[in-house]
Amino acid sequence: MATIIGLTGGIATGKSTVSKMFEEQGVPVIDTDLIAKKQLQKGKPAYKEILALCGEDILAPNGDINRNKLAKTIFSDKTIRQKVNAIVHPKVKKIVKTEIKHFEDLDEPFVLLVVPLLFETDFYKLVDISVLVYARKKDQVERLIARENIDEAYAKQKIKAQLPLSKKREMADYVIDNSKNIMETRKSFQRVFKKIQHSVE
Ligand SMILES: Nc1ncnc2c1ncn2[C@@H]1O[C@H](COP(=O)(O)OP(=O)(O)O)[C@@H](O)[C@H]1O
Ligand SMILES: [Mg+2]
Repeated sequence: MATIIGLTGGIATGKSTVSKMFEEQGVPVIDTDLIAKKQLQKGKPAYKEILALCGEDILAPNGDINRNKLAKTIFSDKTIRQKVNAIVHPKVKKIVKTEIKHFEDLDEPFVLLVVPLLFETDFYKLVDISVLVYARKKDQVERLIARENIDEAYAKQKIKAQLPLSKKREMADYVIDNSKNIMETRKSFQRVFKKIQHSVE
């Protein structure tokens, strides 16, 4: 059986950055964000349901759901956010389970499952070990603004929609510190990955 490592953090704290470090060590990565993104394409089962809920204003010119427009809608309305999550999460979970099975069939010792809302949803049930990518709030806001080209108020609104990072930090089995430069993060990653490897021996 593969050990399933759940990688979480706050928005823009560095999950994707750290997931690449696991990948470099040969650990297969399942990214729930990418899977969720695909659900927004025209013809996917979630597409119609989300459209019925949010209206055609969220569409891109090619007919797919525009992720930024959907985000604007769901981050300003908690009820809609919960409803969209209720549509998307079960579909993502089903795909995740299939992918985990695939890597288990290949006898992979570890699988990394990247889940932004690991502790907010029941995705935590799918993982054996949880790892949190930490960054200070100030850096998180700055990185989010730079990455998504949004203003500070909207960045803070997005961060607020998740459990506080301090809380997630208490819940996680391991913490990788991404509050400094990438070199330091790599060291923190190496320490944590070694501990995880030892813990399953
Ligand atoms: N240690 C770091 N120092 C500076 N910028 C960083 C650092 N780690 C990540 N970033 C940048 O911050 C942004 C968010 O990181 P990312 O890995 O995409 O976060 P997440 O996947 O958690 O949303 C990206 O633009 C990334 O390049
Ligand atoms: Mg990411």
